[in-house]
Amino acid sequence: MSKCSSGTCGSKKASGCGSADAAVAQQNTAIAASLDRIKNKILVMSGKGGVGKSTVSVNLALGLAQKGYKVGLMDVDLHGPDIVRMLGMSGRMDGELTKDGKMPPLQYNDKLKVISLESMMENRDDPIIWRGPLKNQAIRQFIADVNWGELDYLVIDAPPGTGDEPMTVAHTIKDAKALVVTTPQNIALADVRKSINFCKHVSMKILGIVENMSGFICPHCDKPVDIFKTGGGEQLATEFSVPFLGRIPLDARVVIAGDDGKPYLSSGATSPAIQAFEAFLAKVEKELPVIQTAATSIPMAKGASSCGCGSGPCNPNTCDC
Ligand SMILES: Nc1ncnc2c1ncn2[C@@H]1O[C@H](COP(=O)(O)OP(=O)(O)OP(=O)(O)O)[C@@H](O)[C@H]1O
Ligand SMILES: [Mg+2]
Ligand SMILES: [Zn+2]
Repeated sequence: MSKCSSGTCGSKKASGCGSADAAVAQQNTAIAASLDRIKNKILVMSGKGGVGKSTVSVNLALGLAQKGYKVGLMDVDLHGPDIVRMLGMSGRMDGELTKDGKMPPLQYNDKLKVISLESMMENRDDPIIWRGPLKNQAIRQFIADVNWGELDYLVIDAPPGTGDEPMTVAHTIKDAKALVVTTPQNIALADVRKSINFCKHVSMKILGIVENMSGFICPHCDKPVDIFKTGGGEQLATEFSVPFLGRIPLDARVVIAGDDGKPYLSSGATSPAIQAFEAFLAKVEKELPVIQTAATSIPMAKGASSCGCGSGPCNPNTCDC
């Protein structure tokens, strides 16, 4: 790659900067074309580490796919990618391209496509030692060069904080909406304020706040126990006038499921944590519906008919009418 990619070095003619400009322009076009086919983009973020961003991303993507949507899951936690492991996927992307010269994403099932740097590495335990511009480029390539096809939702799992990765997402995907994950402790709530202010700074709309690890599910009786004060996430949502997307309790089965690479939502259990995930999913669907078009990918539910909402054939699972 040429040294200058911004076109501001003043050496356009002498050093071939013009060709770098052309490459950036070409990539911008590819990014726009990819994004054009993705209806909703959700950036899962938090000012704090370990609050459950990846867990929420995986279960959100999987839950939406289980409802019949076409979903992509993009892991932009480049230094600590977790998604592939949490989904128990061992496949590697071998660099073979599709007919249109794009990289095929990993396929978790026929509704869920996944991309992560981890699946492109020779050795998964190698550390990624990259600075801003390289990370920016990797994320742009995840969008431009991957064959995402038509998607209803793209869920993007960010690393903690407000650094290069969420910044690149905000600049590259202008219509991405932030889903802020928090836990009930005061320190985590203080970080949410930072995330919200970050969103304001980069003009990213906020889809809402979800309070994870909110209360504890007793492994003996499945009853919730408030070990931390709960409800802080909801208060913050009210304070900032953004939607509150729900509370997900701390449940040991969520950890085991993540470690085993079998996301808890796919377990078929009917525990309070599963119910909480389902309520959260319904809230996300309501806040960010897939606009029904002729090419909509939502299968019509059995016995469903035109329901008068004006959007054509209607799926009662996804329509509020
Ligand atoms: N509701 C929950 N109940 C129990 N354990 C949970 C819950 N949510 C997340 N965890 C566990 O907490 C740990 C951290 O979760 P996760 O990796 O999703 O957080 P993260 O915010 O993505 O972390 P990082 O900032 O390192 O990317 C994991 O072991 C995960 O299984
Ligand atoms: Mg994570
Ligand atoms: Zn109990």
